[in-house]
Amino acid sequence: MTTRRATITSLGRFVPEKVLTNEDLERMVETSNDWILERTGIQERHVAEKGVATSDLAAEAAKEILARRGLDPDDIHVIIVGTVTPDTIFPSTACRVQEKIGASHAWGFDLSAACCGFVYALTNGAQLVASGAHERALIIGGDVMSSIINYEDRSTCILFGDGAGGVLLEATEDGEGGVIDFNNWVDGSGGRFLHMPGGGSLNPPTEETVRKRMHYVHQDGRQVFKYAVRQGAAASLELLERNGYSSSDVSLLVAHQANQRIIDATADRLGLPPEKVIKNIQMFGNTTAGTIPLALWDAHEEGRLNKGDLVLLCAVGAGYTVGRCLFRWTGLRTGYA
Ligand code: UT7
Repeated sequence: MTTRRATITSLGRFVPEKVLTNEDLERMVETSNDWILERTGIQERHVAEKGVATSDLAAEAAKEILARRGLDPDDIHVIIVGTVTPDTIFPSTACRVQEKIGASHAWGFDLSAACCGFVYALTNGAQLVASGAHERALIIGGDVMSSIINYEDRSTCILFGDGAGGVLLEATEDGEGGVIDFNNWVDGSGGRFLHMPGGGSLNPPTEETVRKRMHYVHQDGRQVFKYAVRQGAAASLELLERNGYSSSDVSLLVAHQANQRIIDATADRLGLPPEKVIKNIQMFGNTTAGTIPLALWDAHEEGRLNKGDLVLLCAVGAGYTVGRCLFRWTGLRTGYA
Protein backbone atom coordinates (compact mmCIF):
# COMPACT_ATOMS: atom_id res chain seq x y z
CA MET A 1 0.00 0.00 0.00
CA THR A 2 1.41 3.42 -0.90
CA THR A 3 1.38 6.28 1.57
CA ARG A 4 -0.46 9.45 0.67
CA ARG A 5 1.74 12.44 1.39
CA ALA A 6 1.71 16.15 0.64
CA THR A 7 4.27 17.47 -1.80
CA ILE A 8 5.24 20.89 -3.11
CA THR A 9 3.96 21.32 -6.67
CA SER A 10 4.36 25.06 -7.24
CA LEU A 11 6.25 28.07 -5.92
CA GLY A 12 5.85 31.84 -5.89
CA ARG A 13 7.22 34.92 -4.24
CA PHE A 14 6.94 38.68 -4.16
CA VAL A 15 9.23 41.36 -2.80
CA PRO A 16 8.57 45.10 -2.96
CA GLU A 17 10.61 47.06 -5.46
CA LYS A 18 12.11 49.62 -3.05
CA VAL A 19 15.58 48.66 -1.76
CA LEU A 20 17.18 49.81 1.49
CA THR A 21 20.95 49.38 1.30
CA ASN A 22 23.56 49.33 4.04
CA GLU A 23 24.70 52.72 2.76
CA ASP A 24 21.17 54.07 3.24
CA LEU A 25 21.25 52.79 6.83
CA GLU A 26 24.64 54.42 7.42
CA ARG A 27 22.83 57.72 6.88
CA MET A 28 20.02 56.80 9.28
CA VAL A 29 21.80 55.31 12.33
CA GLU A 30 25.34 54.93 13.65
CA THR A 31 26.42 51.84 11.73
CA SER A 32 28.62 50.85 8.83
CA ASN A 33 28.39 48.68 5.75
CA ASP A 34 31.41 46.70 7.05
CA TRP A 35 29.81 45.99 10.44
CA ILE A 36 26.51 44.85 8.90
CA LEU A 37 28.22 42.66 6.30
CA GLU A 38 30.62 41.07 8.75
CA ARG A 39 28.08 40.44 11.53
CA THR A 40 25.06 39.47 9.43
CA GLY A 41 25.94 38.97 5.74
CA ILE A 42 23.19 41.41 4.70
CA GLN A 43 23.82 43.88 1.87
CA GLU A 44 20.34 45.13 1.21
CA ARG A 45 16.70 44.48 2.00
CA HIS A 46 13.44 45.35 0.28
CA VAL A 47 10.86 47.55 1.97
CA ALA A 48 7.22 48.14 1.13
CA GLU A 49 5.79 51.56 0.35
CA LYS A 50 3.42 53.03 2.91
CA GLY A 51 -0.03 51.45 2.57
CA VAL A 52 1.30 48.14 1.24
CA ALA A 53 0.45 45.33 3.65
CA THR A 54 1.40 41.67 4.09
CA SER A 55 -1.68 40.48 2.19
CA ASP A 56 -0.57 42.51 -0.85
CA LEU A 57 2.77 40.68 -0.96
CA ALA A 58 1.16 37.33 -0.13
CA ALA A 59 -1.52 37.69 -2.81
CA GLU A 60 1.13 38.42 -5.48
CA ALA A 61 3.10 35.34 -4.38
CA ALA A 62 -0.15 33.31 -4.49
CA LYS A 63 -0.88 34.50 -8.03
CA GLU A 64 2.54 33.29 -9.19
CA ILE A 65 1.96 29.92 -7.50
CA LEU A 66 -1.38 29.49 -9.29
CA ALA A 67 -0.08 30.73 -12.65
CA ARG A 68 2.90 28.33 -12.64
CA ARG A 69 0.61 25.43 -11.82
CA GLY A 70 -2.09 26.51 -14.26
CA LEU A 71 -4.73 26.44 -11.53
CA ASP A 72 -7.86 28.43 -10.99
CA PRO A 73 -8.14 30.16 -7.55
CA ASP A 74 -11.30 28.10 -6.95
CA ASP A 75 -9.13 24.96 -6.88
CA ILE A 76 -7.57 26.04 -3.57
CA HIS A 77 -9.16 24.51 -0.47
CA VAL A 78 -7.20 26.10 2.37
CA ILE A 79 -4.90 29.13 2.72
CA ILE A 80 -2.46 29.32 5.63
CA VAL A 81 -0.42 32.50 6.07
CA GLY A 82 2.52 32.50 8.48
CA THR A 83 3.09 36.08 9.58
CA VAL A 84 3.74 38.34 12.58
CA THR A 85 2.70 41.43 10.64
CA PRO A 86 -0.91 40.69 9.69
CA ASP A 87 -2.66 43.56 7.87
CA THR A 88 -4.86 43.81 10.97
CA ILE A 89 -5.26 41.66 14.08
CA PHE A 90 -8.52 40.61 12.47
CA PRO A 91 -9.74 39.83 9.90
CA SER A 92 -6.85 37.54 9.17
CA THR A 93 -4.39 38.07 6.35
CA ALA A 94 -5.56 34.72 4.94
CA CYS A 95 -9.08 36.16 4.55
CA ARG A 96 -7.67 39.15 2.71
CA VAL A 97 -5.55 36.93 0.43
CA GLN A 98 -8.60 34.75 -0.26
CA GLU A 99 -10.52 37.82 -1.41
CA LYS A 100 -7.62 39.31 -3.39
CA ILE A 101 -7.02 36.15 -5.42
CA GLY A 102 -10.71 35.15 -5.60
CA ALA A 103 -10.34 31.69 -4.03
CA SER A 104 -14.04 31.27 -3.43
CA HIS A 105 -13.86 27.67 -2.14
CA ALA A 106 -11.11 28.18 0.43
CA TRP A 107 -11.04 28.57 4.17
CA GLY A 108 -7.92 29.77 5.89
CA PHE A 109 -6.14 31.28 8.85
CA ASP A 110 -3.01 33.09 9.97
CA LEU A 111 -0.34 31.33 11.92
CA SER A 112 1.81 33.27 14.36
CA ALA A 113 5.17 31.62 14.89
CA ALA A 114 7.56 34.42 13.87
CA CYS A 115 10.52 33.04 11.92
CA CYS A 116 9.01 29.54 12.06
CA GLY A 117 5.77 30.79 10.50
CA PHE A 118 6.36 29.16 7.13
CA VAL A 119 7.66 25.85 8.52
CA TYR A 120 4.70 25.57 10.90
CA ALA A 121 2.23 26.53 8.13
CA LEU A 122 3.78 23.94 5.84
CA THR A 123 3.61 21.18 8.45
CA ASN A 124 -0.04 22.02 9.18
CA GLY A 125 -0.98 22.17 5.51
CA ALA A 126 0.85 18.92 4.85
CA GLN A 127 -1.32 17.14 7.45
CA LEU A 128 -4.51 18.47 5.86
CA VAL A 129 -3.45 17.20 2.43
CA ALA A 130 -1.91 13.89 3.55
CA SER A 131 -5.02 13.02 5.57
CA GLY A 132 -7.20 13.47 2.49
CA ALA A 133 -9.12 16.36 4.07
CA HIS A 134 -8.00 18.62 1.23
CA GLU A 135 -6.48 18.26 -2.23
CA ARG A 136 -4.71 21.62 -2.39
CA ALA A 137 -3.29 23.88 0.30
CA LEU A 138 -1.76 27.28 -0.34
CA ILE A 139 1.02 27.92 2.15
CA ILE A 140 2.42 31.44 2.41
CA GLY A 141 5.05 32.99 4.67
CA GLY A 142 5.38 36.74 4.55
CA ASP A 143 6.00 39.83 6.58
CA VAL A 144 6.16 43.59 6.24
CA MET A 145 8.74 43.90 8.98
CA SER A 146 9.29 47.57 8.14
CA SER A 147 5.90 48.23 9.76
CA ILE A 148 7.18 47.15 13.20
CA ILE A 149 10.82 48.24 13.05
CA ASN A 150 12.22 51.25 14.85
CA TYR A 151 14.52 52.85 12.29
CA GLU A 152 16.33 54.65 15.11
CA ASP A 153 17.41 51.34 16.70
CA ARG A 154 20.57 50.16 14.97
CA SER A 155 20.48 46.77 16.65
CA THR A 156 17.29 45.77 14.81
CA CYS A 157 16.75 48.07 11.82
CA ILE A 158 19.72 46.72 9.89
CA LEU A 159 18.39 43.15 10.07
CA PHE A 160 14.88 43.07 8.70
CA GLY A 161 13.19 43.39 5.31
CA ASP A 162 9.83 42.81 3.65
CA GLY A 163 8.81 39.93 1.41
CA ALA A 164 6.55 36.92 0.96
CA GLY A 165 6.79 33.55 -0.67
CA GLY A 166 4.84 30.37 -0.72
CA VAL A 167 4.13 26.96 -2.12
CA LEU A 168 1.23 24.83 -3.24
CA LEU A 169 0.82 21.47 -1.51
CA GLU A 170 -0.90 18.61 -3.32
CA ALA A 171 -1.05 14.87 -2.76
CA THR A 172 1.51 12.36 -3.93
CA GLU A 173 0.85 8.64 -3.88
CA ASP A 174 4.30 7.42 -4.92
CA GLY A 175 5.25 6.45 -1.37
CA GLU A 176 8.63 8.15 -1.74
CA GLY A 177 8.40 11.88 -2.25
CA GLY A 178 6.84 14.79 -0.48
CA VAL A 179 6.80 15.89 3.16
CA ILE A 180 8.30 13.06 5.22
CA ASP A 181 8.32 14.37 8.77
CA PHE A 182 8.73 17.45 10.94
CA ASN A 183 10.24 18.30 14.32
CA ASN A 184 8.72 21.47 15.76
CA TRP A 185 8.67 22.78 19.30
CA VAL A 186 8.33 25.98 21.28
CA ASP A 187 10.17 27.22 24.35
CA GLY A 188 8.19 30.09 25.84
CA SER A 189 10.97 30.92 28.29
CA GLY A 190 12.70 32.72 25.41
CA GLY A 191 9.81 35.11 24.83
CA ARG A 192 11.43 38.08 26.49
CA PHE A 193 14.48 38.03 24.21
CA LEU A 194 12.60 38.82 20.99
CA HIS A 195 9.17 40.39 21.14
CA MET A 196 6.85 43.26 20.34
CA PRO A 197 5.55 44.29 23.75
CA GLY A 198 2.73 46.63 22.71
CA GLY A 199 -0.41 46.41 20.64
CA GLY A 200 -1.89 43.17 22.00
CA SER A 201 -4.26 42.46 24.90
CA LEU A 202 -1.44 42.76 27.45
CA ASN A 203 -0.49 46.30 26.47
CA PRO A 204 -3.23 47.66 24.21
CA PRO A 205 -2.09 50.62 22.14
CA THR A 206 -2.16 53.93 23.99
CA GLU A 207 -0.21 57.14 23.66
CA GLU A 208 2.08 55.78 26.35
CA THR A 209 2.82 52.47 24.54
CA VAL A 210 3.65 54.44 21.42
CA ARG A 211 5.82 56.91 23.33
CA LYS A 212 7.69 53.98 24.87
CA ARG A 213 8.21 52.45 21.42
CA MET A 214 6.39 49.28 22.50
CA HIS A 215 4.92 48.73 19.03
CA TYR A 216 8.36 47.90 17.64
CA VAL A 217 10.54 44.77 17.62
CA HIS A 218 12.76 44.48 20.70
CA GLN A 219 15.57 41.95 20.62
CA ASP A 220 18.45 40.76 22.74
CA GLY A 221 20.40 39.61 19.71
CA ARG A 222 23.14 37.74 21.57
CA GLN A 223 20.65 35.54 23.44
CA VAL A 224 18.70 34.72 20.30
CA PHE A 225 21.91 34.06 18.39
CA LYS A 226 23.16 31.57 20.97
CA TYR A 227 19.84 29.74 21.15
CA ALA A 228 19.55 29.54 17.35
CA VAL A 229 23.04 28.06 16.98
CA ARG A 230 22.56 25.62 19.86
CA GLN A 231 19.19 24.32 18.67
CA GLY A 232 19.95 24.59 14.97
CA ALA A 233 21.70 21.32 14.39
CA ALA A 234 20.28 19.31 17.31
CA ALA A 235 16.67 19.34 16.13
CA SER A 236 17.76 18.57 12.57
CA LEU A 237 19.85 15.55 13.55
CA GLU A 238 17.01 14.16 15.65
CA LEU A 239 14.61 14.51 12.71
CA LEU A 240 17.02 12.88 10.25
CA GLU A 241 17.89 10.00 12.55
CA ARG A 242 14.34 9.02 13.38
CA ASN A 243 13.64 8.75 9.65
CA GLY A 244 16.70 6.60 9.00
CA TYR A 245 18.86 9.31 7.47
CA SER A 246 22.11 11.04 8.37
CA SER A 247 23.12 14.55 7.39
CA SER A 248 25.15 13.19 4.46
CA ASP A 249 21.82 12.19 2.85
CA VAL A 250 20.67 15.83 2.80
CA SER A 251 20.89 17.42 -0.66
CA LEU A 252 19.93 20.93 0.40
CA LEU A 253 19.60 22.85 3.67
CA VAL A 254 17.12 25.71 3.42
CA ALA A 255 17.57 27.61 6.66
CA HIS A 256 15.84 30.68 8.00
CA GLN A 257 17.86 33.69 6.84
CA ALA A 258 18.40 35.65 10.06
CA ASN A 259 22.17 35.85 10.12
CA GLN A 260 24.79 34.36 7.80
CA ARG A 261 26.80 33.25 10.85
CA ILE A 262 23.85 31.27 12.24
CA ILE A 263 23.34 29.53 8.87
CA ASP A 264 27.07 28.73 8.62
CA ALA A 265 27.22 27.42 12.20
CA THR A 266 24.19 25.18 11.61
CA ALA A 267 25.64 23.85 8.35
CA ASP A 268 29.01 23.25 10.03
CA ARG A 269 27.47 21.29 12.87
CA LEU A 270 25.59 19.18 10.34
CA GLY A 271 28.76 18.74 8.27
CA LEU A 272 27.12 20.21 5.16
CA PRO A 273 29.38 21.86 2.56
CA PRO A 274 28.45 25.31 1.14
CA GLU A 275 27.09 23.83 -2.08
CA LYS A 276 24.36 22.13 -0.02
CA VAL A 277 23.27 25.35 1.68
CA ILE A 278 21.09 28.14 0.27
CA LYS A 279 21.90 31.70 1.27
CA ASN A 280 20.09 34.75 -0.06
CA ILE A 281 20.20 36.85 3.10
CA GLN A 282 22.50 39.31 1.33
CA MET A 283 19.62 40.43 -0.93
CA PHE A 284 16.62 40.36 1.41
CA GLY A 285 17.77 40.46 5.03
CA ASN A 286 15.48 38.77 7.52
CA THR A 287 11.91 38.76 6.18
CA THR A 288 10.76 36.61 9.16
CA ALA A 289 8.16 34.13 7.80
CA GLY A 290 9.22 35.02 4.26
CA THR A 291 12.84 33.85 4.31
CA ILE A 292 12.40 30.11 3.73
CA PRO A 293 9.97 30.33 0.80
CA LEU A 294 12.13 33.11 -0.73
CA ALA A 295 15.17 30.85 -0.38
CA LEU A 296 13.29 27.85 -1.81
CA TRP A 297 12.28 29.97 -4.78
CA ASP A 298 15.91 30.96 -5.39
CA ALA A 299 17.05 27.35 -5.00
CA HIS A 300 14.58 26.29 -7.67
CA GLU A 301 15.49 29.13 -10.05
CA GLU A 302 19.20 28.33 -9.63
CA GLY A 303 18.54 24.68 -10.56
CA ARG A 304 19.56 23.47 -7.09
CA LEU A 305 16.39 21.42 -6.51
CA ASN A 306 16.33 18.15 -8.40
CA LYS A 307 13.79 15.37 -8.35
CA GLY A 308 14.57 12.98 -5.49
CA ASP A 309 16.58 15.52 -3.47
CA LEU A 310 16.22 15.30 0.31
CA VAL A 311 15.58 18.84 1.54
CA LEU A 312 15.82 20.03 5.14
CA LEU A 313 14.07 23.22 6.24
CA CYS A 314 15.09 24.73 9.56
CA ALA A 315 14.22 27.84 11.50
CA VAL A 316 14.50 29.29 15.00
CA GLY A 317 12.65 32.42 16.00
CA ALA A 318 10.72 34.46 18.51
CA GLY A 319 8.87 32.46 21.12
CA TYR A 320 11.24 30.70 21.06
CA THR A 321 9.93 28.66 18.16
CA VAL A 322 11.95 25.87 16.58
CA GLY A 323 10.91 24.33 13.28
CA ARG A 324 12.33 21.52 11.17
CA CYS A 325 10.74 19.87 8.16
CA LEU A 326 12.11 17.14 5.91
CA PHE A 327 10.85 16.44 2.42
CA ARG A 328 11.84 14.79 -0.81
CA TRP A 329 11.50 17.09 -3.81
CA THR A 330 9.20 15.68 -6.47
CA GLY A 331 9.42 18.53 -8.97
CA LEU A 332 6.88 21.21 -9.86
CA ARG A 333 3.69 20.25 -11.67
CA THR A 334 2.63 22.34 -14.60
CA GLY A 335 -0.73 22.35 -16.32
CA TYR A 336 -3.95 21.44 -14.63
CA ALA A 337 -4.15 17.74 -13.83
O1 UT7 B 1 14.95 35.94 12.98
C1 UT7 B 1 14.67 36.04 14.33
C2 UT7 B 1 15.76 35.55 15.12
N1 UT7 B 1 16.78 36.56 15.23
C3 UT7 B 1 18.02 36.24 15.08
O2 UT7 B 1 18.34 35.10 14.78
C4 UT7 B 1 19.06 37.30 15.38
C5 UT7 B 1 20.14 36.71 16.21
N2 UT7 B 1 21.18 37.69 16.58
C6 UT7 B 1 22.03 38.22 15.67
O3 UT7 B 1 21.94 37.96 14.49
C7 UT7 B 1 23.16 39.06 16.21
O4 UT7 B 1 23.17 38.98 17.62
C8 UT7 B 1 23.05 40.56 15.79
C9 UT7 B 1 23.36 40.71 14.32
C10 UT7 B 1 21.68 41.11 16.11
C11 UT7 B 1 24.09 41.37 16.57
O5 UT7 B 1 25.39 40.86 16.31
P1 UT7 B 1 26.39 40.53 17.51
O6 UT7 B 1 27.63 40.08 16.89
O7 UT7 B 1 25.67 39.60 18.45
O8 UT7 B 1 26.58 41.96 18.16
P2 UT7 B 1 26.30 42.41 19.65
O9 UT7 B 1 24.85 42.59 19.89
O10 UT7 B 1 27.07 41.51 20.56
O11 UT7 B 1 26.97 43.84 19.66
C12 UT7 B 1 28.39 44.00 19.47
C13 UT7 B 1 28.68 45.47 19.41
C14 UT7 B 1 28.03 46.28 20.52
O12 UT7 B 1 28.92 47.29 20.92
P3 UT7 B 1 29.82 47.08 22.23
O13 UT7 B 1 28.85 46.87 23.36
O14 UT7 B 1 30.68 45.87 21.96
O15 UT7 B 1 30.57 48.37 22.30
C15 UT7 B 1 26.83 46.91 19.87
O16 UT7 B 1 26.44 48.11 20.48
O17 UT7 B 1 28.15 46.02 18.18
C16 UT7 B 1 27.35 47.15 18.48
N3 UT7 B 1 26.30 47.23 17.47
C17 UT7 B 1 26.46 47.82 16.28
N4 UT7 B 1 27.50 48.48 15.73
C18 UT7 B 1 27.35 48.97 14.50
C19 UT7 B 1 25.04 46.70 17.52
N5 UT7 B 1 24.40 46.97 16.38
C20 UT7 B 1 25.24 47.67 15.60
C21 UT7 B 1 25.15 48.21 14.31
N6 UT7 B 1 26.20 48.85 13.80
N7 UT7 B 1 24.02 48.10 13.56
